[in-house]
Amino acid sequence: MRIIVTGGAGFIGSNLVHVLVQAHDVCVIDDLSSGSPDNLHPGAVTRTMDILDSRLPEVFAEFAPEVVVHLAAQPSVAASFADPERDRAVNVEGTRAVARAARAVGARRVLSASSAAVYGEPAEIPLREGSRTEPVNPYGVSKLSAEEVLADELADSGCDFASLRFSNVYGPRQDATGEGGVVAVFCQALAGGETPVIYGDGIQTRDFIFVGDVVGALLTAIAHEEALGGQGAAGAYNISTGTETTVQALADTLRPVAGFFAPFEYGSEREGDVRRSALDPAKAADVLGWRASVPLATGLGPTFRWFAQR
Ligand SMILES: NC(=O)c1ccc[n+]([C@@H]2O[C@H](COP(=O)([O-])OP(=O)(O)OC[C@H]3O[C@@H](n4cnc5c(N)ncnc54)[C@H](O)[C@@H]3O)[C@@H](O)[C@H]2O)c1
Repeated sequence: MRIIVTGGAGFIGSNLVHVLVQAHDVCVIDDLSSGSPDNLHPGAVTRTMDILDSRLPEVFAEFAPEVVVHLAAQPSVAASFADPERDRAVNVEGTRAVARAARAVGARRVLSASSAAVYGEPAEIPLREGSRTEPVNPYGVSKLSAEEVLADELADSGCDFASLRFSNVYGPRQDATGEGGVVAVFCQALAGGETPVIYGDGIQTRDFIFVGDVVGALLTAIAHEEALGGQGAAGAYNISTGTETTVQALADTLRPVAGFFAPFEYGSEREGDVRRSALDPAKAADVLGWRASVPLATGLGPTFRWFAQR
């Protein structure tokens, strides 16, 4: 199969591409704004460009993808507060450009990365795809708009689509410097001999999912025979474990993995962080037959080793 992966030099994208190249023709489109050239796979064609570049349709026409996995995004909540216009341009208009380019070349399916951030402060736990969506930061707003744009551009077009709402993804190749995610930030600190800082009281919860499980979900969605999309929220799928874990419990699970037995430090809570998060993965299980299978204590092993080896 011919597959375009936007954001293929990033954390999730590169983990996906390293598996895809074993069986498919892959083209990575990435401007390397938060991704790394070290993540690029020689077995994939690479186009270093912004998805907002007017030449995007030419790249699509040249490669003629059957499936497009759209992971390129402005991924940082902090950056979305600092520059909401750029956040909106990349996440919303970038998704529109990718959807239009995919449609123009007759691609069969577009899978687009969305986020738990679309829900905001949860109305219920675990969150379902039909739960209230009230994002509490510009990143969540742009990810929700991107879902709507994807559905607007592709509904009734003959190109199937789905917005995959990832919970908190962690694993090797995650960048701890930008948004990073708390697992990457903790692992980087521990690997550098520093004491990690927990923002807030540590009782806040997240739904941590190993990147290998997310890659599994994407592979399953790529191969799925029936249509995944539909109108509006019908095209959204939680890709998550459904398990709520406190940041304190994460710290306690990571400590023995890293051989660090002192307590972590505490800092003040961060703007735009929700208190609780867990996403119900039942729809992905029902429709795709996919379930996360890597427990946190297992996924933290290769994750910490990757940071320690750098
Ligand atoms: N990591 C998580 O926990 C998580 C959770 C929910 C959703 N997501 C979403 O998953 C996707 C991948 O996230 P990630 O964690 O791998 O982030 P990442 O920053 O590692 O990857 C994003 C990639 O997109 C590229 N990119 C950014 N803007 C671009 C542009 N305008 N044109 C071309 N390329 C561009 C970056 O260089 C980077 O390689 C994103 O859409 C993100 O919003 C991630």
